[in-house]
Amino acid sequence: MTITNKDKLIIFDTTLRDGEQSPGVTLTVNEKIEIAKQLSRLGVDVLEAGFPVASQGDFDAVQRIANEVGPLMVGREAIGKPITIAGLARAVPADIQRCYDAIANAPHKRIHTFLATSDIHLEHKLKITRDECVKRAVAAVSFAKTLVTDVEFSPEDAGRSDQDFLCTVLSAVIEAGATTLNIPDTVGYNMPEEYGAMIKYLIANTKGSDKVIWSAHCHNDLGLATANTLSGICNGIRQVEVTINGIGERAGNTAMEEVVMAVHTHPDFFPVYHTINTSLFFRISQLVSSLSGMVVQPNKAIVGANAFLHESGIHQDGVLKNKQTYEIISPETVGANTINLVLGKHSGRAAFRSRLQELGFGELTEEEFQVAFNSFKTLADSKKRVTEQDLLALLSDQVSSSAGEKTTYTVKSLQVVSGTSFATATVQLQNTQTGDVLIDAAIGKSGPIEAVFLAIQRLVGKKIHLLKFDITAVGQGVDALGQVSVKIAEGSANGSSSDSEDSVTETEEDKDAGLNKATYHGHGADSDIIQAATKAYLNAINRLVANESKRILGERKVDV
Ligand code: KIV
Ligand code: ZN
Repeated sequence: MTITNKDKLIIFDTTLRDGEQSPGVTLTVNEKIEIAKQLSRLGVDVLEAGFPVASQGDFDAVQRIANEVGPLMVGREAIGKPITIAGLARAVPADIQRCYDAIANAPHKRIHTFLATSDIHLEHKLKITRDECVKRAVAAVSFAKTLVTDVEFSPEDAGRSDQDFLCTVLSAVIEAGATTLNIPDTVGYNMPEEYGAMIKYLIANTKGSDKVIWSAHCHNDLGLATANTLSGICNGIRQVEVTINGIGERAGNTAMEEVVMAVHTHPDFFPVYHTINTSLFFRISQLVSSLSGMVVQPNKAIVGANAFLHESGIHQDGVLKNKQTYEIISPETVGANTINLVLGKHSGRAAFRSRLQELGFGELTEEEFQVAFNSFKTLADSKKRVTEQDLLALLSDQVSSSAGEKTTYTVKSLQVVSGTSFATATVQLQNTQTGDVLIDAAIGKSGPIEAVFLAIQRLVGKKIHLLKFDITAVGQGVDALGQVSVKIAEGSANGSSSDSEDSVTETEEDKDAGLNKATYHGHGADSDIIQAATKAYLNAINRLVANESKRILGERKVDV
């Protein structure tokens, strides 16, 4: 990393807030902490850990991240300070106070407050005048400023707001103490030149604009989030709000790896430098993908499985002669090379520990290490070559089901008999809350996985709709680890055909009945795909059950 006289580009990651707003993504606290640790190690400057007022679960997650990840210095020696933990808050005192309470213990903390400024939002959503909008924005920033020094303000839907009105609001919040002004293209509407020109206009016409950091926050509805963000950088943006793999609301947010690698690849073009350890991109992409259940498309820039594959003969020939003929980024730069490094069944604890350290899982307790080592040994018995990709899949699994969090049911045993026209499954589950061991069997007309899912539905006493079932092979060969990702929703308790016990997938009636139902994702990895599917299904059911108990305890959820 060469530091020049250019400005540093501040990387603000919102994978755990806007990213977690992706449809169907629900991360447990343990999963969020693991992702937060990896983001800190990657060199992210500001981590938006969540929206604390949204629910008790969100508050707890932000608080644990602030306490446990906020002080970490691992991998940040070159940056010289720990990550800043930010929480999101609407422009109301109760939200801002709750946000502060959650982040209070982080050594570096930021309150990020937002209020819509476009006429369409003011008239139809907030039903307030422009004057009232300015008052509320100033009041929110002033209050936040009594709690922390680092305050960010976002005029929501800035991309469709009147620019002179934006200048009025932004000048007022700078005077009230805002230190970062974030300009969201909330609905992904802007064109790159338009977004860049807007940033230039706002900086030129906002009073005190030289005292604050200007930030870009783009959504990808037209596939332009990265282009818009880069155009912003060329026009004065010095902080980018991004997510790993571009996950986020609807079509997603700007992908961190794309913006950072564009700046990295064109050091002379952009007026900024970055301090991200790009060699960790591939690993963190895989971690976020398996924990969130959002599969990375193979042709995704930088971190897709095909990003460094050369299929055509002409390209292969060129790359063999000189890599630069067809590669603008080397796989090593983003860590795509190490993903196939191998461990075998003779690898001992020391080799395994050192590989875990390289993967960023160096802080496992002795007990967690032993569980991981046992899973590795079991896998190594059935698979000759265990790769980093396999280890990441196993560790993601372990993070998801660790510490008893959201784990009501575990599999005690599973027996499947498969034939040409149907399959039967006998499943034994343990209810960890009551200690009960439950056993039942079912027939699957379309195969063993359906049989297992039906048996589990009977055991947990719920009608479950399977909304998504994805299976991917981690690596190559017949012994490849199968990684299964599912999305489920609970079915209606009475009435429709969906209550018949012989279906696990969603019917049209289910779709109508299931509108607005909460969905849960789960994932599992195993060299046996039936076991991987069972783990994924149960992982999702455990999240559903945990959410049910929260609802019984009266937890509320507020949307952004
Ligand atoms: O897209 C958006 O406007 C947001 C704000 C809350 C910053 O996510
Ligand atoms: Zn957003």
